Amino acid sequence: MAPLRKHDMQLRAATTDEITGTWDERWFGMVVGINSVYYPSDVQGLALVDHHDELVGLVTYHVDGPSGQIVTLDTMVRGRGFGGRLLEAIENKFHNLGLGRSWALFTNDNLRAAGLYLSRGYRLIRVHLDAVDKVREHKPKLPDRGYDGYPLRDLWEFEKMGLLGGLPVP
Ligand SMILES: CC(C)(COP(=O)(O)OP(=O)(O)OC[C@H]1O[C@@H](n2cnc3c(N)ncnc32)[C@H](O)[C@@H]1OP(=O)(O)O)[C@@H](O)C(=O)NCCC(=O)NCCS
Repeated sequence: MAPLRKHDMQLRAATTDEITGTWDERWFGMVVGINSVYYPSDVQGLALVDHHDELVGLVTYHVDGPSGQIVTLDTMVRGRGFGGRLLEAIENKFHNLGLGRSWALFTNDNLRAAGLYLSRGYRLIRVHLDAVDKVREHKPKLPDRGYDGYPLRDLWEFEKMGLLGGLPVP
């Protein structure tokens, strides 16, 4: 089979079924933030799809005043540039919506996500110590340890100001 390349993939608006399916599989059906809980009906999404219209990545977002929150970012195959492509697309989307700030939360084990965001100009602006305790109240099956066996404890908040746009985004 030919390798999947990021430039062969297309972006389109995600369906609620795609968001629900991905969140059920990867997020216990919901996303718990600092003072909020999101369900699929609370967010919109951009899907990255292959030439069979199969999902290879999904970014979901929520707009709150002048900021856009990246609620989830998932790729079905890692290390092929799909995460970067989706991050670029969502920043364009936010820019086109007139938003000046993009931000995201993720757990303290997620060095891969941290690398992706840092390499694209995001900064770590807050560490919400022990915020995963609250996540566990909603997701009792969340394991004690995450990627590479790191204890899951805190939420890291990353932001990027001054988004550059230009690309049309669905
Ligand atoms: C985080 C995630 C979206 C990254 O997607 P991906 O398709 O692998 O990302 P890409 O291939 O575009 O980019 C990888 C980038 O991550 C970084 N990266 C890759 N491997 C890394 C590692 N071992 N350590 C640190 N950074 C790493 C690099 O910055 C790389 O950027 P580059 O393209 O400039 O080299 C993916 O791993 C995923 O779906 N994770 C599960 C869900 C999740 O945790 N989402 C993030 C929080 S919402």
